[in-house]
Amino acid sequence: MGGMRHCVLLVLLHLAFGLAFQVGTIRGNGHTEFQKKQINGNVHVARSNLAKYWPFSSSKHKVTKRDLGGDTCEALRGYGDRLINNTHMFGFYDLSGSVSLAWVGDGTGVVLALTTFQVPFFMFRFGQSKLYRSENYGKSFEDVTSLINNTFILTEFGIAIGPMNSGKVILTGDVSGSKGSRIFRSTNFGNAFTPVDLPFHPLSQIVYNPQNSDALLALSVTYDLWVSEDFGVTWKTIHDTVCRAKWGRDNTIFFSTSFNGSCIDEKGMLKLKRTTDYGRTIKTIASKIFSFLLEAKFVFASVMTGQGTLRMIHVSVDQGDTWNIAQLPPVGHEQFYSILAADDDVVFLHVDDLGDTNLGTLYVSDDRGTVYSKSLERHLYTSPGSATDFTNVTSLRGVYMTSVLAEDDSVQTVVSFDQGGEWTQLHIPENINCAFELDDPDQCTLHIHASYSTTLKLNVPMLPLSEPNAVGLILAHGSVGDSVSAMKPDVYVSDDGGYSWLLALEGPHHYAILDSGGLLVAVEHNPSLPIAQIKFSTDEGQCWHIYNFTTEPIYFTGLATEPGARSMNVSIWGYRETLISQYWVSVTIDFNQLLTRTCGKGDYIEWLAHSDDISDPNDGCMLGYKEKFLRMRKDSVCWNGRDYVVNKQPTPCTCTLDDFLCDFGYSRAENSSECVEQAELKGHALEFCLHGKKEQLLTRGYRKIPGDRCEGGVTPERTEVDLSQKCVSNLLDPQLQTGNSSSSVAIVVAVVAIMLLSVAGGVLFVKKYVCGGRFLVHRYSDLQNNAEANDIEGVDELDIQAVQAPKRDFHDDSDEDLLE
Ligand SMILES: *[C@@H]1O[C@H](CO)[C@@H](O)[C@H](O)[C@H]1NC(C)=O
Ligand SMILES: *[C@@H]1O[C@H](CO)[C@@H](O)[C@H](O)[C@H]1NC(C)=O
Ligand SMILES: *[C@@H]1O[C@H](CO)[C@@H](O)[C@H](O)[C@H]1NC(C)=O
Ligand SMILES: *[C@@H]1O[C@H](CO)[C@@H](O)[C@H](O)[C@H]1NC(C)=O
Ligand SMILES: *[C@@H]1O[C@H](CO)[C@@H](O)[C@H](O)[C@H]1NC(C)=O
Ligand SMILES: *[C@@H]1O[C@H](CO)[C@@H](O)[C@H](O)[C@H]1NC(C)=O
Ligand SMILES: *[C@@H]1O[C@H](CO)[C@@H](O)[C@H](O)[C@H]1NC(C)=O
Repeated sequence: MGGMRHCVLLVLLHLAFGLAFQVGTIRGNGHTEFQKKQINGNVHVARSNLAKYWPFSSSKHKVTKRDLGGDTCEALRGYGDRLINNTHMFGFYDLSGSVSLAWVGDGTGVVLALTTFQVPFFMFRFGQSKLYRSENYGKSFEDVTSLINNTFILTEFGIAIGPMNSGKVILTGDVSGSKGSRIFRSTNFGNAFTPVDLPFHPLSQIVYNPQNSDALLALSVTYDLWVSEDFGVTWKTIHDTVCRAKWGRDNTIFFSTSFNGSCIDEKGMLKLKRTTDYGRTIKTIASKIFSFLLEAKFVFASVMTGQGTLRMIHVSVDQGDTWNIAQLPPVGHEQFYSILAADDDVVFLHVDDLGDTNLGTLYVSDDRGTVYSKSLERHLYTSPGSATDFTNVTSLRGVYMTSVLAEDDSVQTVVSFDQGGEWTQLHIPENINCAFELDDPDQCTLHIHASYSTTLKLNVPMLPLSEPNAVGLILAHGSVGDSVSAMKPDVYVSDDGGYSWLLALEGPHHYAILDSGGLLVAVEHNPSLPIAQIKFSTDEGQCWHIYNFTTEPIYFTGLATEPGARSMNVSIWGYRETLISQYWVSVTIDFNQLLTRTCGKGDYIEWLAHSDDISDPNDGCMLGYKEKFLRMRKDSVCWNGRDYVVNKQPTPCTCTLDDFLCDFGYSRAENSSECVEQAELKGHALEFCLHGKKEQLLTRGYRKIPGDRCEGGVTPERTEVDLSQKCVSNLLDPQLQTGNSSSSVAIVVAVVAIMLLSVAGGVLFVKKYVCGGRFLVHRYSDLQNNAEANDIEGVDELDIQAVQAPKRDFHDDSDEDLLE
């Protein structure tokens, strides 16, 4: 609880829902289709030299279901009466425009609802945003608009919640009828607001220092960087011609600057600067940069190589004092790099292929961020800032899902259970038989719909959902079989981190995880019909109950729950129509009464993650250790409660060679776990060298996988080789260009890189986090405008921009991070 857990993604995903989904083959970008085809032999599922620390091939993994303990559907009785008395409806009779919702603080029950405007500020100078405040998790709201008299707030500014349960809130607005910008500061969970007129026009949201909620930074529309150290009372400008600024660790601000104030034209000539004292002293730490990014302990910068318009990623783990060149192919201006996910141990990085393929290669780094292994080829990633299906399954360590494009152009979902070491297809859900459609039943696999489907405007209202405190649980839209079934997404549930799946709900739904996984709720997605029902499950999605929450159906726009999946209150947002107007309605249901009691010891059973055979001592090992969890029995109807902590018992495994990765210049021979010096590099100069001090160039061949906690067992022989003698920095070494690169998948990336040389310029863009606490978690946009924007008649076509669990989505489609 608290602290960095609230570091959430700012960017709201724009989901546009097709009213009627197309039947037949959908082609994305002219050449991609959603068709379920045989994967064997079609998709390159590359094994990296980091692979094989998972002891068995997951495709053979059979999962035994946890004991359900009786018929779980029978466990609940008479719930309707209990829920009726805990259903609260609230109408916002004058609400129009977009609504932003924000939860303030941790378990305080304070929710702010703000109406915002979507027009650019220079076109629109009058208006009044309305502000509503709830202290009971949204059951009722008080109109507190008078706190922000004469102010209109743009949708992209919205509400900024301070980090660490600080109770701080900032609303950034424009004064109606004047040219000024104004912020409203609150230090008491939005109870009172103090206005401050800003000496500048902010370009984007004001950003809190994640370590000190009194320190704020903002970029102005004239590209001046402004800082406040007293929670927005006084502001000073610390630099002009700033393109982008980010808070780093330990109160550091990193920012890129241009010479002449043109961030676009001077791409590749920008300077990266740093200040650790809020602008009193400023140090230049890199130049000729194209773009930069902060993620976990890493500072990434894409830097021009000096060879035409190629650029490469440089990485620093000491806040920019020293840099290493990442061992990745350089890219030209037509291509891009994208950091899909990064923590202190590992970086997942996508490198776009040459040409307009919508494909690239997924690389996984070690903990230095410098040495990369090829993890997956033909990784689908359409264009910068748009769609990749890459998903960190946060409910089980080491599990990631994404999509590849098969050679027949069909999109295939693949999953890795070992942090990118190996990728396989998903299993067919147990309660599905799709063999009748296909000659070979083995062809039948599950396909998960994620961002790519939503950018194609398939009828997929939500991305896959997982929560760290709901162990093993994943909810996602998916389909099995051929292309026809791919057009009708259903909701599937996995309770073991993606090994096995179950068809849970037919048709598209909005869903949410409550009470740390003890309760799931879902509402059918059907924009043209008003709804009156919510579905819920107390057994991880096996049995669903229906509750009619109203007698007057509403046009549904989205589910809202407090971030963190600990709440038992869920709000259904929608609107009603009268003859003359529409008005917003929120219905909040408190499931506390339904579950009636706190779970006791007997309600939990042991579960070993990543395992199908608890008696095998080597089963379940992942990165050198296995974890047993206490999980709620499916037939237990009780609440985990707000204070529930995941009970995990890790035990170390004995080391095998698979707990080590091959160091730079070494690779695994086929069918062997041993690292051998790469033949391709013997007698050749290494094109990519680890810069810095000489001793950094020493390698021992093996390197423990970062985060691997195995003990005893194999200790690989260590031979020290000084690579520095082999290093030259000539990017176009002709010897390497003609080098033999076909011999192994695990060939050193350097060789691959050489072959990809060409073209010019480019993009480094990445996910954008706001370390400012719980951010705009839901946004419901204008009823009318979006229907028009989507060129569809009628108001039933709602555009819901909802990010329920922001960490699920790594893709930032805002201009700020997409630096081209
Ligand atoms: C619901 O509330 C009504 C009126 O307050 C009460 O008569 C009824 O017993 C309650 N029902 C339940 C199931 O608690
Ligand atoms: C806002 O306006 C209302 C009505 O005009 C007034 O009663 C209220 O005092 C004003 N609030 C502030 C903070 O100025
Ligand atoms: C900045 O502008 C000056 C004069 O317009 C020009 O000579 C110079 O090349 C520009 N610098 C960059 C980095 O564009
Ligand atoms: C994936 O999510 C888990 C749980 O939130 C987190 O601990 C891990 O660092 C994430 N992985 C990456 C590479 O960001
Ligand atoms: C809920 O509504 C549906 C459809 O309107 C109806 O068929 C069903 O009987 C209702 N259920 C209850 C428990 O009232
Ligand atoms: C649900 O809301 C009520 C207040 O209306 C609050 O007392 C309760 O703690 C909330 N439940 C949870 C689990 O957050
Ligand atoms: C590796 O194993 C596969 C399958 O067992 C076999 O077909 C292949 O020949 C082996 N390769 C080498 C180099 O031994």
